[in-house]
Parts: sequence; C-alpha cells; structure tokens
Amino acid sequence: MRIIQCDSKEQAINAVASMLLEKISAHPASVIGLATGRTMEPVYASLVKLSRDSETDLSRAFFFMLDEYLGLPEDHPSSFKHYIKTHVLEPLHLNSSQFAFPPVHAAESALHYEQSLKEAGGVDLQLLGIGTNGHVGFNEPGSLKNSRTRKIELTEETLKSNRDQFVDELIPTEALSMGIDTIMEARSLVMLATGKSKADVIKHLLNHHDDPNCPATYLKSHSHFTLVLDPDAASKINLNI
Ligand code: GLP
Repeated sequence: MRIIQCDSKEQAINAVASMLLEKISAHPASVIGLATGRTMEPVYASLVKLSRDSETDLSRAFFFMLDEYLGLPEDHPSSFKHYIKTHVLEPLHLNSSQFAFPPVHAAESALHYEQSLKEAGGVDLQLLGIGTNGHVGFNEPGSLKNSRTRKIELTEETLKSNRDQFVDELIPTEALSMGIDTIMEARSLVMLATGKSKADVIKHLLNHHDDPNCPATYLKSHSHFTLVLDPDAASKINLNI
C-alpha cells in the first residue's frame, strides 16, 4: 500500500483528481470505477477544472459505478446515479453511453453488472471513499473478502451518517454494491479519506489486516492500492509507519 499524506484537504483532492486525469490522458479508453459520497464531490469539481485547463479528451473513457441504493425511484435526486450525472456526466459534457449504472430493478442485476464489467475488460482505476465503519462501496462490516456484486443491507451507522444526503424522508435500507473481490480485480485502487470523522477508521485500517469488521482492510493486499489522506484523516496515525 502506498500512502500519500497531503498538507491540506485541497492538496489531497487535487492529487486524486490528477491521478484520474493522468490515467485517462495516458490511456484515453481507460475504464474508471467511480465512487460517490461527500468526499468525492470536490474531487469531481477538481477533475472538471483540471480537464478543462488541460483540454483532456475524456470522450473515450468508460465509467462504472461502485454502488447504488435499492428502492429509490429512477433518477431520484438522492440516488448515486443522479449524483454522478450532476457531478461528473453533465459538467464534463460526457455521453450517458460512457456510463454503467448498477441495474437496480432486475432480479439478475448483480450478475448482469459483473458480466458488463468483464466485457469492458475490467476496471483500470477504481476510486474509493471509506465509511466511518470501514465500509468500501457498501461492503458493510461482516462482508467477506471473496464477496461479489450483491444486495447489501445497510447498517444503522451507515444510515445515520448518510441521512443528510437525502433530500426527503425516503431513506433506503438496502443497496447494490460491487463486492470486495470485484473491487480487488481493478488494476489499481485509489482511496481518499478527508476530515476528522475518518481519523479513527484510517488508524484502524493501518493497524489491521483482513478484518471482516473493517472491510477496507482487505484492500491492503492489493498490489496497487494508494491511500490519499488530508491532515485531519491522518491525524491519528503514526507518520513513520
Ligand atoms: C457511502 C458510499 C461509499 C462512500 C462512503 C463514504 O455511503 N457508498 O462509496 O465512500 O459511504 O461517504 P462520505 O464520503 O460521504 O463520507
């Protein structure tokens, strides 16, 4: 695991946006796995700015979503699909044919998504945030290392920490998420953690391996896993590890 400790939140955000852009500049037909959440919003804003400044062509890239809530009406403003449209697809003037969203209605949706991932040749770079309980995507504590894309029941902690993301009272209790094993198949993983609320889970991540109670720890055995931290998220770790 490579750890990049940044001097500011802005630097951490720009570092991740630059990694994404560099990947696409070097390989325009890259397959990128996108994460959502508050952490990623400024990353996408930075990506929009950097890609404009550098005039990078993003029209050949393809994007897979990491996860999605189940039970929300199509295009609900709290859905991750809506988030990605608002923060990525529209501001970057991309085409919806460049995106794969988890097909949340069909019974065979998980299998179908895995199949689409395979057909696209797998993910080149997977962006990841981390939940305060150590979840990645929506792989909640208890998730197995060999888990694949599937339906997951959300924990109370996740529901509580995501509540402010909902525009109305409709808060889903289930989600579809790429599994740990699915995520591990990406050729590189880039996780960003910012803010004091992530300091405890980052400390746990660095001190544990393959801990089912903190699924993010599974990712440490990936050969190209980069963890980018701002000073607050890194505030409880020993810098000399
Ligand atoms: C969300 C998403 C994750 C995200 C995490 C952290 O619910 N499923 O992909 O990384 O929880 O979210 P935030 O960045 O808002 O703290």
